[in-house]
Amino acid sequence: MAEYDAIADEYAASKLLPWRVHVEQPTLFGLIGDVRGKSVLDLACGDGIYARMLADRGAARVHGVDLSGGMVDLARKAEAARPRGVTYSVSDAADVQGLGQFDIVVAAYLFNYAQDRAQLARMADSAFRNLVPGGRLCGVNDNPRTCAERYRYYPEFRFIRYIEKPQREGSSITWSILPESGDACIFDNFWIAPETYCDTFASAGFSDFRFVDAQVAPGEDAAPFEAFLDDCPICGIAARKP
Ligand SMILES: C[S@@+](CC[C@H](N)C(=O)[O-])C[C@H]1O[C@@H](n2cnc3c(N)ncnc32)[C@H](O)[C@@H]1O
Repeated sequence: MAEYDAIADEYAASKLLPWRVHVEQPTLFGLIGDVRGKSVLDLACGDGIYARMLADRGAARVHGVDLSGGMVDLARKAEAARPRGVTYSVSDAADVQGLGQFDIVVAAYLFNYAQDRAQLARMADSAFRNLVPGGRLCGVNDNPRTCAERYRYYPEFRFIRYIEKPQREGSSITWSILPESGDACIFDNFWIAPETYCDTFASAGFSDFRFVDAQVAPGEDAAPFEAFLDDCPICGIAARKP
């Protein structure tokens, strides 16, 4: 995805912001749980930030896939600098095959790139195909359950989220994130109705597809993130392959 080739450095800087670390990460890893000895496929792995964390947490095999050659180059550079055995390929997440089946498929901000039901279905089918029976899909996503008037500026979190109006499936959602240093990181994703997510993942064969409210880590003080969590622009996603 050419858009990410151009913003790879700004994107990496945005991952250091407190809401990324204290809300996004615990939401995702809370769903993923214990990965020791497990095989994990990271769809839309970006620069490999979560692939590396999964390897560091003891996953037996981690493979990352992303459409952006620039992001995968960064991921491979990080692997070369500190080898963890993580492998990567450049591909559309909807077309992944031939890698074998994984215990867990992670999708951090993949599905919000689907511009319509058909594209979401291809992504969901791919996630399903690449899981072992009993395997789990875990992710974080732009939260499609917020209504149009709740897309807004989160000044204390250096984050603006704007949706194209009138809101319809395929409306673009612009994220503007201002890292603590460096240039703003601005990119688009797309809105698909929550019911369409539920129907599409059920049609792909998943059981128990659900959106999960974002959270801080258990035992951590949520107060600094109240304004973010209260009207939360991100959510978790979870489903299981029967
Ligand atoms: C917001 S970034 C998330 C990267 C990483 N998962 C993370 O959380 O830092 C979204 C990523 O999705 C990738 N992407 C978008 N559409 C994709 C597709 N159809 N297949 C694979 N990757 C895709 C982009 O290239 C980009 O790296």
